[in-house]
Amino acid sequence: MLGKFITIEGGEGTGKSTQVKLLAEYLQNKGCDVITTKEPGGTEVGLEIRRLLVCGDKDKMDATAEALLYFADRHIHLEQKIWPAMRDGKVVISDRFADSTVAYQCYGYGQRVKREVIDELYKIAVGNFKPDLTIVLDIDPKVGLQRSFAKADGMVEKELRFEVRELEFHNNLRRGFLEIAKQEPERCVVLDANKTIEGLHKDIVATVAQRLGL
Ligand code: TMP
Repeated sequence: MLGKFITIEGGEGTGKSTQVKLLAEYLQNKGCDVITTKEPGGTEVGLEIRRLLVCGDKDKMDATAEALLYFADRHIHLEQKIWPAMRDGKVVISDRFADSTVAYQCYGYGQRVKREVIDELYKIAVGNFKPDLTIVLDIDPKVGLQRSFAKADGMVEKELRFEVRELEFHNNLRRGFLEIAKQEPERCVVLDANKTIEGLHKDIVATVAQRLGL
């Protein structure tokens, strides 16, 4: 593939979407051809899948069903949006990708789907493809959740199926993301998200320059 694929990961309220937007603007100003996207919901079908996943009662489906739906969303996202853009030489920046399924659905972290099952689903939906760079935004979940609930105040249909879970769940997610980053240091960089928007943006820009030369 000609282009680059950058993913921004992390728990709730880490400021991912703001940082995706700022990074895209920065790279565009430098002359890169950039698109931004997100999971779940990066495509038209994906938006329908997103609603099933993030709205409603937290117990309405189990983690296996969630993992299947997240990978369905991801497969469509890759086929319809990410890969075509990369073939055109674009930089694709995604707000979440497969590390979120490991952190949120996998045994030992958010929920109880076996790692082998998630790895098998990855092979089916994604194949051997991986992001060129993954930036994990790390924050104390207590701070992150406050930000998320404040943001949801203005939503008609509140996307809080995961936020309403207990603090322990969010601490486990955080541990999940940090362990993934430790296991794959060539792909992942962890940044402190408890900074000002500008301060974190600077760290992200420096990381993208150092890792990808952009
Ligand atoms: P967002 O709020 O960052 O757009 O993400 C939607 C929710 O979906 C968020 O609570 C995290 C969750 N999620 C998973 O549980 N597994 C996944 O694989 C992905 C991509 C998101």
